[in-house]
Amino acid sequence: MRLLAATLLVLAGTVTADITYDIDLLQHLEKLADNRYPTEDNSANRANTRDYIRDRFRNYGLDVMQQKFNTTVNKDKYGLSMDLMQVEGTNVIGVVPAVTKHPGAVVVVGADYDSNGIVDPMFHNGGGVAALLEVARLYFFNKAWSGRFAVNFTTVFVAFDINTKLHENSPGTPGGRFFVRDWLWPMLGRNATYFGGAVILDSVMNVDYEINSQVLTSGFNELFPDTYKRVQESGAKGDFLSMVSWGNADASITLKDQFKGSYNKDRKMRRFRLEDMKLHDGVFLDDFVKQVVRSENIHFWRFIDDKNATIQLPALLLTDTASLRRSPIDNCDKCRPVDLLTEERIEFLEATVKATTDFLFNRQATLLPEVSGSKAAFIPSMLMTTLMLCLVRLYM
Ligand SMILES: *[C@@H]1O[C@H](CO)[C@@H](O)[C@H](O)[C@H]1NC(C)=O
Ligand SMILES: *[C@@H]1O[C@H](CO)[C@@H](O)[C@H](O)[C@H]1NC(C)=O
Ligand SMILES: *[C@@H]1O[C@H](CO)[C@@H](O)[C@H](O)[C@H]1NC(C)=O
Ligand SMILES: *[C@@H]1O[C@H](CO)[C@@H](O)[C@H](O)[C@H]1NC(C)=O
Repeated sequence: MRLLAATLLVLAGTVTADITYDIDLLQHLEKLADNRYPTEDNSANRANTRDYIRDRFRNYGLDVMQQKFNTTVNKDKYGLSMDLMQVEGTNVIGVVPAVTKHPGAVVVVGADYDSNGIVDPMFHNGGGVAALLEVARLYFFNKAWSGRFAVNFTTVFVAFDINTKLHENSPGTPGGRFFVRDWLWPMLGRNATYFGGAVILDSVMNVDYEINSQVLTSGFNELFPDTYKRVQESGAKGDFLSMVSWGNADASITLKDQFKGSYNKDRKMRRFRLEDMKLHDGVFLDDFVKQVVRSENIHFWRFIDDKNATIQLPALLLTDTASLRRSPIDNCDKCRPVDLLTEERIEFLEATVKATTDFLFNRQATLLPEVSGSKAAFIPSMLMTTLMLCLVRLYM
């Protein structure tokens, strides 16, 4: 009965065109509320989270790999001591394999899963990880069960561990750099031609419709005049998602325009929007830029190969601007983790999941023509997809 009800509900409400979107972020977010700063006292939380991501990827049907690395972090999360320690990190990687050696073939979707011990671990970056898991699930399941898509190109989902750049005074190499240098680059046959781009989800759940909830840094007007104007005119509301890209290379422009196209498909139904924010060489280190270059996108924008040559790989950073937006706990009276997950925030995060999934289907797969021109053939496959999604939700 429960299954039937769920099936009907999903069928009635969330089937859009050819992709089934039954986004469920809360199941993941519940698991991502604990501290994951890489010290001894958090080792159980860290292992649980790593295993959770690995098991989800496996259940969804992805090829799963774990990339271990050693790095150095500060024992004090506030970075006040100079007491350093070596820790082992694990990037969790899930692949949907197809053609790799074709121009622009490989696309990466990634999010940090550790936390810096100071900012709320659900926002930084549980929300990004929950979105990553849902995109992986929706992409693989629609592909596998609808029978409506041929997957052309390889897609890589990665949960990065230990982003030392976001820890205070931690000098070690961040997990993202290990991933790009030691996993992705060899996988690309050391040829940037085959890389399509990365979408990095870093702090993507905080939306705020209050006046003056958004801080605009001193350089904002000069760096992003259009965004600056819109935010000013709105009364400095934190009601947008930033999409930050770097440079004018064709691959980078294509990547951001494709993502924007997917995000804006149902923009008219929304109170929030996407801001297209492009940086370029020679940019000054404004506080916003300082924050942006600490996220994993930097290892793509400024990749250093085996011969010490700097190569620019296309990547987008999606962010709610983190510390430049009013903190979610500022106006929270109870402040249990669950109280922070308001409908507004979940809706905002769902839009990112939907856009990223749509972007992947448009870019990495092909919608097959209907068999013998009959709509009827499509109904069972759609039902099958929906049923599979429900089964997984209930029993896995
Ligand atoms: C990390 O260091 C530990 C202790 O030195 C070592 O046992 C382990 O194999 C190292 N891991 C990697 C991935 O290098
Ligand atoms: C994708 O795969 C389908 C089915 O194999 C094929 O018909 C189509 O031409 C491919 N598209 C690209 C861009 O390779
Ligand atoms: C990268 O691959 C392309 C297409 O196969 C090829 O033309 C190019 O020479 C390769 N570049 C390098 C540096 O190997
Ligand atoms: C790359 O640069 C590093 C540090 O600047 C240096 O130690 C290393 O030898 C260089 N490697 C090559 C292949 O030039």
